[in-house]
Amino acid sequence: MKRARTSPPRASVAPFPMRPESSQVLLTTPRLYVTQLPPDAAARVLTYHTANRDHLGPVSPTRPDNFFTVTWWRSRLAQDAEDWRRGLALRLFLLPRESPPSFGPVIGSVSLSDIRRGALQCGELGFGLDARHQGLGLMSEAVHALCDYAFGPLGLHRLQANHLPDNHRSAAVLHRVGFSVEGLARQSVLIDGRWRDHVLTARLAPGALER
Ligand SMILES: CC(C)(COP(=O)(O)OP(=O)(O)OC[C@H]1O[C@@H](n2cnc3c(N)ncnc32)[C@H](O)[C@@H]1OP(=O)(O)O)[C@@H](O)C(=O)NCCC(=O)NCCS
Repeated sequence: MKRARTSPPRASVAPFPMRPESSQVLLTTPRLYVTQLPPDAAARVLTYHTANRDHLGPVSPTRPDNFFTVTWWRSRLAQDAEDWRRGLALRLFLLPRESPPSFGPVIGSVSLSDIRRGALQCGELGFGLDARHQGLGLMSEAVHALCDYAFGPLGLHRLQANHLPDNHRSAAVLHRVGFSVEGLARQSVLIDGRWRDHVLTARLAPGALER
């Protein structure tokens, strides 16, 4: 008698592109609103980046000349909305729960960029926090919420995140929220005029390892 051949269960793949996303994303955590911001919030985002110029600059790719202007941020926030509508990226800002998101101060950002569908179903995680709000677990809280959203409603299978080898705080956040180191990409990013190595980390959707 012929034995039935067993094949591994098939992973389900969300269609590409996912339904164009037109509604605003607002994630609520115990202490934060993690949300998209419209172009008219440009001044608030600029205030955050100006206050954190020395804190975020050394770990960020080289910035355009007009990065520290309201004009740049107004067009960047409009681009963020368009990228989300097309399913390419989701860029969110952290605001304390004490104030309504429509006028609270921006204290950080977290993003999924380079969202790829089809056979990949993955995205690149990035984040930054106001220096004065470090050491409170706020970024871990925000990244947890974004991962839940990415693996839940967005249906992604894998999130990737890179950090400079000496960025121990970033490594600690990623470890805390379940990312594992997968390797080192040599001279993969230009920061401050120097090609820098990046540690590669990733987290799979819950249950992915058993599929
Ligand atoms: C990377 C970065 C976001 C980390 O910020 P952070 O505040 O250290 O991160 P977390 O939100 O996870 O907080 C963890 C710290 O809060 C403490 N903490 C306090 N209450 C906590 C709570 N309820 N839950 C979790 N941690 C808590 C932890 O013990 C830890 O403190 P420690 O650093 O003294 O060990 C921040 O340093 C940053 O913006 N750096 C520059 C930008 C950057 O590097 N971005 C990443 C590029 S790859």
